[in-house]
Amino acid sequence: MKNLKLIVNLIVVTSSLMFFQCTSDYTAIPGQDGENGTNGIDGVDGIDGIDGVGTQVCIDCHSDTHRSGIWDAYLTSNHGGDPAYSYESWDRGTRESCASCHNNEGFIDYIETGAVAVADASGNSYGISNPLSCTGCHDSHSSFDFENDGNDMAVRTAAPVDFKVFAEDPNLDDYILDYGNASNLCANCHQPRRGTPTPDANGKYMNTSTHWGPHHGPQTALLEGLLGAYTTFTLVEAIPAVKQAKHRTDTGSCVDCHMRHTTDGSYGHSWNPTRNNCSDCHGGPVEELKVTGLEEDMDTLGHLLEQVIGQAIARDANGDYQPVFEADGVTPVPVVGIVHYDAGDDAWHPVRGLFDLKAAEAAWNFLFILEDRSKGIHNPDYAKSLIKNSIANLQ
Ligand code: HEC
Ligand code: HEC
Ligand code: HEC
Ligand code: HEC
Ligand code: HEC
Ligand code: HEC
Repeated sequence: MKNLKLIVNLIVVTSSLMFFQCTSDYTAIPGQDGENGTNGIDGVDGIDGIDGVGTQVCIDCHSDTHRSGIWDAYLTSNHGGDPAYSYESWDRGTRESCASCHNNEGFIDYIETGAVAVADASGNSYGISNPLSCTGCHDSHSSFDFENDGNDMAVRTAAPVDFKVFAEDPNLDDYILDYGNASNLCANCHQPRRGTPTPDANGKYMNTSTHWGPHHGPQTALLEGLLGAYTTFTLVEAIPAVKQAKHRTDTGSCVDCHMRHTTDGSYGHSWNPTRNNCSDCHGGPVEELKVTGLEEDMDTLGHLLEQVIGQAIARDANGDYQPVFEADGVTPVPVVGIVHYDAGDDAWHPVRGLFDLKAAEAAWNFLFILEDRSKGIHNPDYAKSLIKNSIANLQ
């Protein structure tokens, strides 16, 4: 393995020399060509490689055949950014606040320096925004001693990740996500960003945004068993503790279900859960694995939340939202539903208004499980209990 390191170092040194020659300030004085130099001495024969751990192992993985299945899968994935397959969120990463997760270059800068490029006056850090590509997730091996160090697959980072939410939550101060493998790479982006609803001076919750709720990628939060909202609830069922989910503790987390165990030559680069590992622990037809009763409970909760009565709000002269009253100045103008289902885009949306904190907490839990998109599978017991408690506390 030492030899390999040498070879790689040698390549690095030679290429930097080439770079030096091209760019150094060399002023040529015209004159006659010099004499040709003498031929160099023949190199010494290399040492025979050990069978099985020689360069063949490198070539096997670095060959075009090995990579073509990976490329094909990537191009049809959400990460690949093709509008036919993705939500087209990869053009959002010009903005400073979105660049670390929605732009390949932004992500690389964020991992390398801890921040994205400094924004210009309009709030943009990048002129263009590209989908996450091979170079976003991979750079180079940290070691070539695969026998002792394992093959890191040259992922850009597998370091533990800060769990970051905007809202102050003392329970989440310094919370670190650590799956002990390349799943930490995913954890940099698949985060909810926003925290649970907090009461105003009157103990109510004012929702001012139709995009309220956890940001679209709260998968890490559910897998951990974090960020359920139930401060106002009388619990009818215990909420499972943090880091208890078997899917977190007994699998290799994200990469185990979404990348490894594939047999189609994609090596997981569609990121569709492979299902081939489910049967290691579950009997029966894995395609049909569902969290018992969750779908029905989500329906029930959705309908209850559509009946919740709150107070309408409107912007005042300063642009701040204020509760709206009837002409008598004391009767609140009602708003019905803290979320509503829109048949047009077949999706649930939060509704603006002033609501009881309890309703806001139940709505948060509902949106959390929806946005996670695994139908509760990431953490079945936590999801079931959050939704059951939300229903019980609304009824
Ligand atoms: C199991 C797969 C695998 C094996 C085995 C493997 N690599 Fe890699 N290597 C990768 C991946 C994945 C990347 C990053 C993405 C890419 O370039 O395909 C990478 C990147 C690299 C890079 C950086 C490439 C660049 O463009 O910057 C070098 C150099 C490299 N590997 C050398 C080696 C050598 C030498 C060996 C054998 C000792 C080896 N690799 C074995 C998977 C592997
Ligand atoms: C911490 C990382 C992170 C940041 C920062 C972030 N996002 Fe996202 N966003 C994600 C992830 C992860 C997904 C995909 C989740 C999924 O597919 O379940 C996503 C999905 C989206 C989607 C598609 C979802 C849909 O259902 O249509 C949009 C649009 C979006 N983000 C907009 C933004 C905007 C705008 C910003 C900046 C204001 C932003 N995001 C900042 C991580 C982030
Ligand atoms: C979202 C991040 C991500 C992107 C984008 C990505 N990879 Fe990977 N890749 C990974 C991770 C993580 C692994 C290792 C999974 C594991 O630990 O089992 C991996 C593994 C690999 C391997 C080793 C496969 C094996 O086991 O033999 C190769 C080769 C590879 N990637 C090449 C590529 C190429 C080429 C692209 C671009 C078309 C690409 N990757 C894009 C995250 C990514
Ligand atoms: C740079 C941020 C980033 C990283 C790193 C990242 N993702 Fe994503 N991921 C996203 C965004 C953004 C989307 C949604 C893209 C779109 O469709 O517009 C997404 C989409 C997905 C989807 C498809 C979601 C769907 O709704 O169909 C899966 C599954 C996924 N990611 C898993 C992973 C896994 C596993 C890893 C780690 C190996 C990972 N991601 C690493 C940002 C990231
Ligand atoms: C126990 C296996 C397992 C683990 C561990 C796991 N996932 Fe999933 N994930 C799934 C399954 C199963 C689905 C549901 C897919 C479906 O409905 O077809 C899913 C759904 C998703 C989706 C939405 C995909 C879509 O098509 O809408 C994203 C994004 C995602 N997972 C990301 C992650 C991330 C990031 C991690 C690590 C923090 C992770 N997952 C850990 C099995 C797992
Ligand atoms: C390492 C073992 C292991 C693997 C791998 C695994 N699971 Fe699980 N799964 C469990 C255990 C244990 C439970 C029950 C405890 C719990 O809910 O945490 C469970 C619970 C579930 C449930 C809830 C069942 C119910 O009745 O509510 C579903 C659904 C599920 N798993 C789907 C999957 C899918 C899909 C995969 C593959 C992508 C998978 N699991 C992979 C161990 C595993």
